[in-house]
Amino acid sequence: MKIYVNSTTHNDIHNIIVGIPEHINQLENINYNDQSLIEDLQTLKQNHIIQGGIGKIATSIIYIQEQPKRLITVGLGNIKQLNYADLLKIWGNLFQYLKQEFITETELILSSFLNKYINDSIIAKTLGLQSEQSIYQFDNYRSDKRSPYQPNLYINVNQRYEDIESMIQEGKILGESINIARGFSQIPPNILTPQYFAESVDKLFKDTSVSVEIKDGQTIQDEGFGLLHAVGKGSIHSPRLITLSYQGRQDDADPIALVGKGITYDSGGYSIKSKTGMQTMKYDMCGAANVVAMIKVAHQLALPINIIGVIASAENMINEKAMKPDDVYTAFNGETVEVLNTDAEGRLVLGDAVAFATQFKPQVILDFATLTGAAIVALGEDKAAAFESHASNQLQEILKLAKNVDEQVFELPISQTERQLIKNSDVADLVNHTNGQGKALFAASFISHFSGSIPHMHFDIAGPATINKMSYKGPKGPTGYMIPTIIEWLKTMN
Ligand code: BES
Ligand code: MN
Ligand code: ZN
Repeated sequence: MKIYVNSTTHNDIHNIIVGIPEHINQLENINYNDQSLIEDLQTLKQNHIIQGGIGKIATSIIYIQEQPKRLITVGLGNIKQLNYADLLKIWGNLFQYLKQEFITETELILSSFLNKYINDSIIAKTLGLQSEQSIYQFDNYRSDKRSPYQPNLYINVNQRYEDIESMIQEGKILGESINIARGFSQIPPNILTPQYFAESVDKLFKDTSVSVEIKDGQTIQDEGFGLLHAVGKGSIHSPRLITLSYQGRQDDADPIALVGKGITYDSGGYSIKSKTGMQTMKYDMCGAANVVAMIKVAHQLALPINIIGVIASAENMINEKAMKPDDVYTAFNGETVEVLNTDAEGRLVLGDAVAFATQFKPQVILDFATLTGAAIVALGEDKAAAFESHASNQLQEILKLAKNVDEQVFELPISQTERQLIKNSDVADLVNHTNGQGKALFAASFISHFSGSIPHMHFDIAGPATINKMSYKGPKGPTGYMIPTIIEWLKTMN
């Protein structure tokens, strides 16, 4: 969506959008100063032609300076209690309606949304975000492509023009990157192999100050990434380790490390998945895609921090060279790991990736992974599980920010129980699997072990990384989960 912000009305545009509060007397509390329009809206509302419930859309006719226009109204609910999630619903429903009706030229009377109860910048930011995120569509592999929807939205704002424009822009940057992450995740796995993924990431940051370094399969083996190599060697598509570096500071202040699970397909390996369990396992690289997007946003917003991104990408498949249960491999940190279940591959590749990340002396390491079905059992499809070691305060901060931006992230513990269980191998230092309960905690403990004493947070996004029905945030499929939260957190760091 192209957005033009200015302070003049567009008499030539025949579709105008106005926000309507639930209680019509609240129209006076919004920042709108055309008395005759207010009166007309009151009449339409009183006659139930337009509605004020959150995100409710209605259309009718209205005359502005004696010219007929299509009036599109969107309900604002009780404007005294509007929050971020409500605004996402308001903009999401509105833009999805415009898309469905293929309305391409509209004028939005922004002053009818600005009220004294909520910060203008939140209104502008959610608008920009939803103008991208909510109407995303992916049909690269359809022969009957839907026509692309490329609307123009003219925003009429009479004050604080530049602040509003820049917050809309920030929201748009966030939405565009979420869509880039979604796009990577949607590519079918016969095309998006580790090599293709690595080359796409390289291309994405071409001619920017973000550097991309790629280790190929041979280098991974030669340099001792024994776990990543083990997971990848059952596939004809060899693994890749991708390192991204964003320097937002002049000095070489300790970076923040963002690590992503990039399994381009998870068949389970010899501990093979069931035929229905295997469906959707192309999405096992969502954590990695989301990390790429986070770094893209940080770069575009020129955040004053240094970031290292580490993506461990492999295809978990079966051939005569594939790892099998009972095998033992040596991790990048020198410890040995007994593989008891080849389907517990995410913690293996992340163990090596986190150990590698520690070499950059980060102040904190965060990893993002579609890691366990057990996290879904614990929290449901729509919530992420969070874990920490030596990063208790930082995690609390992130959980708070998640709430502010309409994401659901809840903490689970890593206790002494799990710290012991990962050492429960008869033959090696560590073991990748327990037959007991608490499998999400075990997996978190395994990954955390490789961060040593460096503060570490692990986010298991197995549930919310994808959604199986459309919502006000967009279509079904990948969601870019945690990108908004982590960007808010990165903005607080320096
Ligand atoms: N990629 C899966 C986890 C997953 C499951 C993500 C469902 C999204 C939806 C992961 O690699 C896996 O297979 N985990 C196993 C671990 C088990 C073998 C300990 C699981 O959760 O079943
Ligand atoms: Mn698996
Ligand atoms: Zn997996």
